[in-house]
Amino acid sequence: LVFFFFLFCLRGFQEGAFALVFKSIHYPGEAVATRRGSPLLIGVRSKYKLSTEQIPVLYGTCNIENMKNMCNSRMKRLDSSTCLHAVGDKAVEFFFASDASAIIEHTNRVIFLEDDDIAAVTDGKLSIHRLERSASDDPSRVIQTLQMELQQIMKGNFSAFMQKEIFEQPESVVNTMRGRVNFENSTVLLGGLKDHLKEIRRCRRLIIIGCGTSYHAAVATRQVLEELTELPVMVELASDFLDRNTPVFRDDVCFFISQSGETADTLMALRYCKERRALTVGITNTVGSSISRETDCGVHINAGPEIGVASTKAYTSQFVSLVMFGLMMSEDRISLQKRRREIISGLKSLPEMIKEVLSLDEKIHDLALELYKQRSLLVMGRGYNYATCLEGALKIKEITYMHSEGILAGELKHGPLALIDKQMPVIMVIMKDPCFTKCQNALQQVTARQGRPIILCSKEDTESSKFAYKTIELPHTVDCLQGILSVIPLQLLSFHLAVLRGYDVDFPRNLAKSVTVE
Ligand code: UD1
Ligand code: BG6
Repeated sequence: LVFFFFLFCLRGFQEGAFALVFKSIHYPGEAVATRRGSPLLIGVRSKYKLSTEQIPVLYGTCNIENMKNMCNSRMKRLDSSTCLHAVGDKAVEFFFASDASAIIEHTNRVIFLEDDDIAAVTDGKLSIHRLERSASDDPSRVIQTLQMELQQIMKGNFSAFMQKEIFEQPESVVNTMRGRVNFENSTVLLGGLKDHLKEIRRCRRLIIIGCGTSYHAAVATRQVLEELTELPVMVELASDFLDRNTPVFRDDVCFFISQSGETADTLMALRYCKERRALTVGITNTVGSSISRETDCGVHINAGPEIGVASTKAYTSQFVSLVMFGLMMSEDRISLQKRRREIISGLKSLPEMIKEVLSLDEKIHDLALELYKQRSLLVMGRGYNYATCLEGALKIKEITYMHSEGILAGELKHGPLALIDKQMPVIMVIMKDPCFTKCQNALQQVTARQGRPIILCSKEDTESSKFAYKTIELPHTVDCLQGILSVIPLQLLSFHLAVLRGYDVDFPRNLAKSVTVE
C-alpha cells in the first residue's frame, strides 16, 4: 500500500491541498495517510510503553522501478529504531484526524505530519516516509503531549467561542455556498429543495418563522425574497405566530429558520403549519435535528458547530441560504437576470469583503473602550439595514447586559427621537442604497438634537461622515447583501463591550444556546 502511495505522490497529486487516509480490504491491518496544505495529525494511545517517542523519517527514491522492492524490504525491516509500536507487540491505537479537537477525548499524545509525509500503519507499527530528502528537513517526527483541555483546543487562539465564530465567517459563508452556487454560469442549486421547487413556485405566499437571531435573518432577506420570488413574504416570530393562531393554508409555504433545529417555539409553529397541510421548509445548521427531520424539505446551512450562545456565523449563513433560495426561484425570470448576476457576483466577493471588515477589529475595540461604561446604546437604520440594527442590538443586550434597541429610522419621529440628546450613544447604519437619502434625513434629525452619531457607512460616503462623531467605513457590496457586512462590526462591538465589562461572553446570564421549552 505504501508503494502505491509513493506512486500517487510522484505521478498524481502535483497541485492543490489535501489530507488523505486510505484503507483497503486488499491490505488488512494497514492504513496509509498523507497531506499537503491541509492539516493531518495522528493520535497515539496505548496502555503500554512505546518503542520510541521520536519516529525517524524513512526516505524513498524517485526511481519507480526500484521502489516496489524497496518498499517491501523496508516494511519488513520495520523495527524499534524505524517505527513506533508498543513494546512486546502489545496493543496500540492510532487515530487520524485533521484537528486535535476530534481525538482529544481519546488521547492527548499526537504526531503532527508535515506536508508530503506519508504515514503508514502496518500490523500495529507506525512508520513515516518521504519521497525526497531536503537539507532543511527535520529527520524525525516527535510525539507531542497536548496540555490543553478540549475547550481550549477548540477555541484556538481566540479568547471565546463567540470571537472565534465571528472570525470564521469568511470560511463559513463559503461552506454554505459550496457545491450550490455556480459562479461560472450564475446558477444556484439547493439539493434539498430542487424536487419541491415547482410546488413552491405555485404557492400563495411564503411565511418565514423563527426566534431571536434566526428571526432577524428572515427580516434581513424579506425584501430580496419579495423581489426575486414575486410572492408576498410574511416574517413571524414563532411565539407570536402561535399566540395569534395565524391562519395558514395548504397553498402556503412555511420556512422554519433555526440554528439548533430544536427551538421549542419554532418546532411548535412547524407542527402547527404541518397540521394545516402547508409545505414546510427548514433552514437549519444541525443535521438530524428535530426541525431538519420534521420539515418536508430544507437546506442545511453548513456553517459548522456554533457554540457561543450569541449567534454570529449562523446568522450570516442563514442570510446567504435565504438569498440562494431567492436566486434559485428566479432562475427562469428573464427580467431578473441582470439582478441575479449582480447578486451572485456579490456572493463571490463576500469572503474577501468579510475579511476586510474583520480587519477593523482594533478600531472597533477602541470604540468599545469609549462606550463600555454607558447604560444604553441605540442602533438605527432602515430598509435593507433594519435587520442589522435589530441583530446588533440583540447581540449587545445578550452579552453586555446594556440596554440596546434596534430602531427603524423611519419611525424616529414617531417616538424614539425623544431619547436623543448629547449623552445618548447612537449608532446609525447608513449605506449607499435606495434608502440613503431618507437616512440622511434621519441623520440630520439626530444631529439637530445634539446627538453624536457613530456611523457605519460605505467607504466612499463623504456625505454621512461630515455629520458623524465617528465612522466605521465598510466595503460596498450589492444592496441586498450589505447586511452581511454591516452586522459584523456590531458583533465585534458587542464582544469587546462584554469583555471590557467583565462578562462571560460565551455563557451570558439567564440565556441558553438552545431553548427547548416554550
Ligand atoms: C447533501 C448532503 C451533503 C452532500 C450533498 C451532495 C446531507 C445532510 N447533506 O447536501 O453532505 O455533500 O448532498 O450533493 O447529507 N432537509 C430538511 N429540512 C431541513 C434541512 C434539510 O428536510 O431543515 C432535507 C433536504 O430537503 C434534503 C436533506 O435534508 O433532502 C439534505 O439537505 P442538505 O444537506 O441541505 O442537502 P444538499 O445540499 O443536497
Ligand atoms: C436562543 C438563543 O434564544 O434561541 C439565540 O439564545 C437564538 O441566540 C434563539 O437566536 C433561536 O435559536 P435557533 O437555534 O432556533 O436559531
